[in-house]
Amino acid sequence: MKNTELKSVNIRLSAGDTIPVEMHKIRMVQETYLWPVERRAAAMAEAGYNTFLLKTKDIFLDMLTDSGTNAMSDKQIAAMMVSDDAYAGSQSFTKLEATIKKAFNQDLILPVHQGRAAEHIISQVFVKPGMVVPMNYHFTTTRAHIELAGGEILELYGDDALQTTSDDPFKGNIDLQKLERIIEEYGADKIAYIRMEASTNLIGGQPYSMSNYRAVKEVASKHGLMLVLDASLIGENAYFIKKREPSYENATIQSICHEMVGLADITYLSTRKSGSSRGGLILTNSKEIFEQMRDLVPLFEGFLTYGGMSTKEIEAMAVGLDEMLNEDVAGASPNMVEFLVKMLDKEGVPVITPAGALGCHIDSMKFIPHVPQNQYPAGALAAAYFIVSGTRGMERGTISTDRAQSGEEIMADVELLRLAIPRRAFTASQMMFVADRLKWLLEHRDLVGGLRFTEEPPVLRFFLGRLEPVSDWPTRLVEAFRNDFGEI
Ligand code: F0G
Repeated sequence: MKNTELKSVNIRLSAGDTIPVEMHKIRMVQETYLWPVERRAAAMAEAGYNTFLLKTKDIFLDMLTDSGTNAMSDKQIAAMMVSDDAYAGSQSFTKLEATIKKAFNQDLILPVHQGRAAEHIISQVFVKPGMVVPMNYHFTTTRAHIELAGGEILELYGDDALQTTSDDPFKGNIDLQKLERIIEEYGADKIAYIRMEASTNLIGGQPYSMSNYRAVKEVASKHGLMLVLDASLIGENAYFIKKREPSYENATIQSICHEMVGLADITYLSTRKSGSSRGGLILTNSKEIFEQMRDLVPLFEGFLTYGGMSTKEIEAMAVGLDEMLNEDVAGASPNMVEFLVKMLDKEGVPVITPAGALGCHIDSMKFIPHVPQNQYPAGALAAAYFIVSGTRGMERGTISTDRAQSGEEIMADVELLRLAIPRRAFTASQMMFVADRLKWLLEHRDLVGGLRFTEEPPVLRFFLGRLEPVSDWPTRLVEAFRNDFGEI
């Protein structure tokens, strides 16, 4: 049997457990650093208790994001060597067009430097002041761009989407009744478009089902509304549809991708995630829609055959998107996430279930219930976890939600510590280490305290904001760690 014919990268061991056996060998490696706990604590303080401001020289496992951090295949690296550095008409772009046809069955491409650039262009063209954009859930940059254009987001997720523990396989679904109600309330002419995000990032990488998505399309068509797909995590959503939606059991990732993209009027994506490269795309089969956006690409990004990307990245993207159609590749991250989630769940760590697409998400309000939400429990947990493990996660909670224009704090729906799992970059034993240190931290949770801002940018404050602990809790955490483990 050929590797590509394997039904799943999860292999069953003789005792009955399954493990995500890596379907590749590692031929190039990068050194990482696990320093003594005191150095980790000092690095966290120097970074203003914001994991974005840490330096990788201080980090052991970088689980900040799966964006642009995936391992690349030998074929991607090889393709980069033959890129065609032309300002216009590059052959690298022609190769990308062929891949986009194969993977998504789309004819018209606008290349952009990354996902948020696509959001910028789409919002500038289609969102007018006073308009709303209904969606399953927002992403940080999506919301910022829609609001920049004078619009407002409306999130229409189902009742259990924000619950930590659930066995709903598709928490990324839109609530169709809410959608109908919103259209009635605002009127179709106030709705810029309906947005669906594949593997809904901020609620734990939770996918939507094809049947829900088809129903959303029907509602959109009935009211003459455009459907916009954020396909940054499309490979994983397609994988979950195959694994969790019975009628798709025998479908290929490619055929599912064709159906997903085919239902949308516009598809955009950051190719830094499912595409294992570093860039962005806007896709459509409508010439009219294409022409409305086209002229903004040379204005903000670059000429239409490179869009601000290096042609090397375009080559890597073409190969990366093609490889994503392989079930082993599309499933690499979901299976590793599931492996980690199962270990954590067993230890009583409040982790989002079912396991989602891009990483493992810890419910910080359950992990450290004594830290009030206005002291940023997810940010505090991210800082504490770095101190005890040298592992960098990301706060996805109130720090990631900017204040209202009035200056009032907007409490996030959920306070998550995200531990992203870049595709094919980490091994199962590293995930065992991650789980073990979280278990230890849970046992010592009383030592973790809150944070407060010392420097707070008004927009996307989570990137550059600086904070400090509300007490000397990091010092006491270091002492407890040293007593149990010594240096590392
Ligand atoms: N849409 C989704 C669903 C995303 O996850 C991201 C990025 C973007 C749009 C923006 O794309 O970064 O290429 O400009 N997510 C990254 C993350 C940043 O860490 O989750 P970008």
